Amino acid sequence: MKARLFIETYGCQMNFADSEILASILQPQYDLVPDYSQADLILVNTCSIREHAEQRVFNRLKEFSALKKKRPGMKLGLVGCMAERLKDDLLRSELSIDLVVGPDAYRSLPRLLSEVEAGQKGIDVLLSEEETYQDIPPVRLGSNNISAFISIMRGCQNYCAYCVVPYTRGKERSRDARTIVEEAESLFRQGYREVTLLGQNVNSYKAGELDFAGLMRQVASISPLLRVRFSTSHPKDLSDELISVMAEYPNICKAIHLPVQSGSSAMLKKMNRKYDRDWYLERIRAIRAAMPDCGISTDIIAGFCGETEEDHRETLSLMREVGYDSAFMFKYSERPGTFASRHYPDDVPEEVKLRRLNEIIALQQELSQESNRRDVGKVFEILVEGESKKKTSQATGAPQYFGRTSQNKVVVFDNGILPDGSMVHKVGDYLQLKVLSCSPATLFGEVLSPQA
Ligand code: SAH
Ligand code: SF4
Ligand code: F3S
Repeated sequence: MKARLFIETYGCQMNFADSEILASILQPQYDLVPDYSQADLILVNTCSIREHAEQRVFNRLKEFSALKKKRPGMKLGLVGCMAERLKDDLLRSELSIDLVVGPDAYRSLPRLLSEVEAGQKGIDVLLSEEETYQDIPPVRLGSNNISAFISIMRGCQNYCAYCVVPYTRGKERSRDARTIVEEAESLFRQGYREVTLLGQNVNSYKAGELDFAGLMRQVASISPLLRVRFSTSHPKDLSDELISVMAEYPNICKAIHLPVQSGSSAMLKKMNRKYDRDWYLERIRAIRAAMPDCGISTDIIAGFCGETEEDHRETLSLMREVGYDSAFMFKYSERPGTFASRHYPDDVPEEVKLRRLNEIIALQQELSQESNRRDVGKVFEILVEGESKKKTSQATGAPQYFGRTSQNKVVVFDNGILPDGSMVHKVGDYLQLKVLSCSPATLFGEVLSPQA
């Protein structure tokens, strides 16, 4: 009988994709279980991006360590970005961690685990300039069998002054296009209808002569029924060619996540983002000119070192000017070892950071609401993803399902039940929906036709 493995994942989509690689590497020895209390091995795949992210993991590790006392045979491993950042400090801590493995060392897991079984501690935190895991078929752990992640490149060497990722993920490297296209084709044959190409800087993908726009063309050509998304793109690498490929293929989703971080050119320079406010706004105009209906989302940091009220107001004004559909918004959190932590004092007082963040969040709520209101009355094609959280309509008692528009907005709709008990509209169907109303977070729509 195989041993039982529980994986808990924190952080970005790359980490979720990496957990699928971990599951694949350990498949010969372990079965995945959904409940940690029964596991022989718990792996926590971790994130270091902000102090708060690490704190959450430390709290969780305390729980797991306590469980180990009750189940002495159980092993606990920490993998991912915290493993890379904190290395053997983790083994010396009072948390009874058996295993520490960085993001480029997952192939050594079986060997390390046999060392752990022999009573030793296992550690491998070497970063690699080549590792892409391109030959390892991921075990899909997503919530449906319709959309999947495909990691196409790893690492980051942009060294934004605030960011820990270049230290935890190492140098940029890209997978062979052939292996990416084959993975997407195989997913499509299995019934998947959406792939999201992932990388820390997905649009700086480069394999020989092939750039990201060229790769998108290849993946989008697999089938018009396969939706293609990507995340996360850096504004500096958002080429005109990529914009025109997006516009050209109806199955490339009209959604761009384009983290701006700040609306102040002075802050952007200090952050080492390699673009300024005007350059970013010009990219937004280029996107809108080619794809007037494109969804645009962003990441924003409030209270970076030396940020003045004027800098903050520039962030607010840029948000209005772009009119983001959605945003992830954060308080600056100093990360040890980064350029900012070594050279700039973290001098914006906590209460000022919080107030600015709250202003940014309040503005984004307004913008998201406006963006949803603009969609009411419009018709969208959605890909059905599953049952909605509420499950049934309060008004009619009908089963409610949800899908996503090309722009990446969730639309909830009433589904019907056929005489044999199955649903009229199934997960994986494309539907034309007319949007009837909206809440700040969701659109509600009515089905116009069963098939696009
Ligand atoms: N590679 C992506 C971002 C990955 S991290 C990109 O460059 O777009 C996701 C987001 O976390 C960043 O966009 C940034 O907004 C935020 N972030 C990164 N480091 C941070 C820090 N030290 N404090 C607060 N937010 C941070
Ligand atoms: Fe971090 Fe900047 Fe790299 Fe994004 S581009 S991962 S923010 S260093
Ligand atoms: Fe976090 Fe590492 Fe991703 S620091 S955001 S898990 S690359």
